[in-house]
Amino acid sequence: MKPLRISSPRECARVVVCGLPDDPIEDVAKTIRDNGGEAVSFGGDISEEHSARECVDLAIKKFKRIDVLVNNAGVFLDNAMTEDYPIADFDETIRMNIRSAFMMTRFVLPHLQKSRGNIISAGSESGMIGLAQNTPYGGTKGWMHAFMRGVAVEQAKNGVRANCVCPGPIDTAWTHKETGPMDKEMEKGLIQAVPLARRGTPEEVANVYAFLA
Ligand SMILES: NC(=O)c1ccc[n+]([C@@H]2O[C@H](COP(=O)([O-])OP(=O)(O)OC[C@H]3O[C@@H](n4cnc5c(N)ncnc54)[C@H](O)[C@@H]3O)[C@@H](O)[C@H]2O)c1
Repeated sequence: MKPLRISSPRECARVVVCGLPDDPIEDVAKTIRDNGGEAVSFGGDISEEHSARECVDLAIKKFKRIDVLVNNAGVFLDNAMTEDYPIADFDETIRMNIRSAFMMTRFVLPHLQKSRGNIISAGSESGMIGLAQNTPYGGTKGWMHAFMRGVAVEQAKNGVRANCVCPGPIDTAWTHKETGPMDKEMEKGLIQAVPLARRGTPEEVANVYAFLA
């Protein structure tokens, strides 16, 4: 995989890079700063109310306003038939993919109403057509689509837009059998289902986010 070209300086965004404490978030923030942008990192589990609040507070303390929320946090834990799907992983998928997006949206909205900003959430093709052998994951993305549609209709009167970006398989660790839960068969099936017969690139997805922001 090629290293991701960081676009924050190009877009003049000032960014809070959020991830779990063990994620390389400070590396990402540093790369943005080294390229002339402004970024701080926040390590915490934003499915927890107190962490989501702290993350929002940090953005306000540092940058005084919030114009864009990107709900990108998510997990893809298993390659398992529904009847065998570990219940602990089901709970974790709901928490990380759904609860985190709800918490962040809830706490950021008052700031977006002031800035007439917008929300962009990581949806997925799997939220539209389902995903065999990780049905809970596809289900969380279907929830995300409906959640964003509801937020978009509800918040339009406040000047706040809400969108989902819904890619097929992207060239990240998840879609490689060596680094994600997919086996050879699932990996092959995912790529074969794409008319271009390849994974999308992170840059292709990032460009859509930049346009919507
Ligand atoms: N990779 C794909 O093929 C693909 C396709 C469609 C949609 N998506 C969506 O795009 C988003 C990013 O996917 P990715 O492939 O870059 O995955 P990734 O694992 O590289 O990035 C997701 C990050 O979110 C973090 N995270 C998860 N739960 C969190 C929480 N509660 N608090 C803080 N951080 C949390 C993870 O630790 C990880 O760093 C996900 O929402 C995913 O569902 C990915």
